[in-house]
Amino acid sequence: MVTKIIEKAIIEQIKREEHSSRIYLSMASWCQVNGFPGAAEWLYAQVEEERGHQSKFIHYLNDRGGHALLAELEKPVLKFKSLLDVFDQVLKHEEYISQSINDLYASSVQQKDFSTGNFLQWFITEQIEEESTARAILDKIRMVSNEKVGLYQVDKELSTMAAAKRAAQLAVAAASANKGA
Ligand code: FEO
Repeated sequence: MVTKIIEKAIIEQIKREEHSSRIYLSMASWCQVNGFPGAAEWLYAQVEEERGHQSKFIHYLNDRGGHALLAELEKPVLKFKSLLDVFDQVLKHEEYISQSINDLYASSVQQKDFSTGNFLQWFITEQIEEESTARAILDKIRMVSNEKVGLYQVDKELSTMAAAKRAAQLAVAAASANKGA
């Protein structure tokens, strides 16, 4: 059984993960109509990843005797100045999510809820990867500045990265289906 404090904090995190998927969906849509199909693919795959994070928190809370309630979401940003602006916002958002996971972990320790602390370990590791990937993409975009050929190459690389991300997501889904079978 989780305490009311932890239940409330996880419900807040569920909202943040759902909001993350909406933010990335909005970015993906902007990229798709502004000549960055690879970035759009990568962001659409990221939307699925955030949905997966949200779902993990929902299942965990309900399994621990809480009730995962969904909240109303703020409207995401709809327009961006450039591809650099998009990924600058991706990195800032991931840093914000890392901080919120760390705060949740701190609450779980304070509440002596070691099961939740243990559950959060996966997210702590995941956030290191999320931030590092966003930082690497942002560095590449900065390196080519606003030069068209360079941006085209980065976009192509993002398409390859999106395919790898999708393949990894499918492998995780297949493994979890086998576990349930
Ligand atoms: Fe759910 Fe990208 O953090």
